[in-house]
Amino acid sequence: MAPTAPQVSEDPAAAPPRLTRVAVAGATGYAGQELVRLLARHPAVTLTAAMSSGSTSAPRPLPALKRVWDGAVAPLDVERLAANAEIVFLALPETASAEVGTALLARGVRVIDLSGAFRIRRDADRQRWYPATTALPDGVVYALPERHAAAIRNARLASCPGCYPTAALLALEPLAAAGLLEGAIVVDAKSGISGAGKTPSERTHFSENHGSVAAYAVFSHRHTAEIEQELGTRVTFVPHLVPLDRGILETIYAPLPRGTTATQIAAALEAAYASAPFVRLTGTDLPEIKHVAHTNFCDIGWRVDEAGGRLVLVAVLDNLLKGAAGQAVQNLNLMLGLDERTGLL
Ligand SMILES: NC(=O)c1ccc[n+]([C@@H]2O[C@H](COP(=O)([O-])OP(=O)(O)OC[C@H]3O[C@@H](n4cnc5c(N)ncnc54)[C@H](OP(=O)(O)O)[C@@H]3O)[C@@H](O)[C@H]2O)c1
Repeated sequence: MAPTAPQVSEDPAAAPPRLTRVAVAGATGYAGQELVRLLARHPAVTLTAAMSSGSTSAPRPLPALKRVWDGAVAPLDVERLAANAEIVFLALPETASAEVGTALLARGVRVIDLSGAFRIRRDADRQRWYPATTALPDGVVYALPERHAAAIRNARLASCPGCYPTAALLALEPLAAAGLLEGAIVVDAKSGISGAGKTPSERTHFSENHGSVAAYAVFSHRHTAEIEQELGTRVTFVPHLVPLDRGILETIYAPLPRGTTATQIAAALEAAYASAPFVRLTGTDLPEIKHVAHTNFCDIGWRVDEAGGRLVLVAVLDNLLKGAAGQAVQNLNLMLGLDERTGLL
């Protein structure tokens, strides 16, 4: 079924719709600023608070958002978040999310978390990659909207997927579900530097990246655990940093079961995303980061070598939108029973 447009009342006497009170923690970060930008214009919510780490005691404005949102970012205050918002977005480092998310749930507030703190279900894996999260609270949902919309609607805490896993899972999950993947899958991923957040390191320093491309965290990136958890199979995931400010491109290599046709691959992907507003299938025209930068779209293209039994998929998205803030707002829309596109298209 095709998605319907956001509902707008044409009756001038109709009461204004009730706005849901939302807040953002981590509003000075890359993902947090995108959230503030989206929420300030979202027709169904009112942004009641935006908070940073508390490393500065003075409230500060967000210069890039002047005239979009003219509030001031305040130091982090969990009690104030709970008092002022029905739904709180956490765009924090995962150690802070583990603590703040649990505290908000205990106060009856729904949470949309962008960090990895609540993504991993198996205790042993979570202890390895996200040790600050000692237990998963009730009501946590792995919040990839295209796959888990029904559960997200009732989630107490929507744990948004990582940026790399979002692209990999959107490309691979329909094929795994259709039994069209067999053997060793390789996800070769390239990311712009904003994926690492705003605090510079030797690896993310401009002069280290400009004019260069580097692989990193081979066999040791925590997003591998997340992709493998959701796919239920082992994946070789190799991320690279490329000298772009934003955007992810993943080239995914997968052997196919004998006799698999290009038609079967296309049919599985088209069936999965027939009514998904933010997944655009490009078929044999392979997508590029430029097509999705500053949008909430994930574009997926593919080529099939029927004789050789090989598939190459290419998936692209904007790490700060479909990989972070945009996907979080898509989840908000599901949690509020709205059209998924509200405030995003
Ligand atoms: N960047 C991406 O592409 C991306 C994609 C998907 C998911 N994520 C996840 O989203 C979260 C935010 O990422 P980001 O890239 O936006 O990070 P960022 O640019 O480094 O921003 C981090 C934010 O958290 C605040 N903060 C830092 N330490 C804190 C603490 N101990 N307590 C409370 N607040 C604290 C910072 O406030 P100050 O300004 O006061 O330091 C800032 O507002 C991370 O968990 C990240 O893994 C990021």
